[in-house]
Amino acid sequence: MRTALLLMLLFSGLALAQPFSEGNAQIGKAMVEKHCIECHARRFGGDGSKIYTRENRIVNSSKGLIAQIRNCNTMLGMKWFEDEELNVAAFLNQSYYHFDK
Ligand code: HEC
Repeated sequence: MRTALLLMLLFSGLALAQPFSEGNAQIGKAMVEKHCIECHARRFGGDGSKIYTRENRIVNSSKGLIAQIRNCNTMLGMKWFEDEELNVAAFLNQSYYHFDK
């Protein structure tokens, strides 16, 4: 019981140490699947995720990631709020970019 509690504390500590820890990656995942993947997949094939892991990718920092999400958001006219952008950033960072600050 006590071990479980310690593990929980440890993991929540780790989660807080990540950028975008305010964002909800589950919600972000659904948002990306709904709004973003189709176009990326058309250009990059598969599920489109190669766009985030390609060698010459644009995004190289957590600041760059949120900026790029904001660009796409504006370009697509989706009018996401800042907390919604954070959900998407949390998902993309946890799944692909893995920036730790
Ligand atoms: C209409 C097509 C289209 C849609 C829809 C789209 N994107 Fe993109 N996105 C692109 C293209 C094209 C690039 C690559 C630009 C380049 O290589 O210069 C890109 C690049 C990116 C990158 C940077 C990848 C890297 O190189 O690190 C991110 C992050 C990204 N998009 C996020 C999103 C998000 C989040 C959404 C949904 C809100 C979205 N995109 C919707 C076309 C699209």
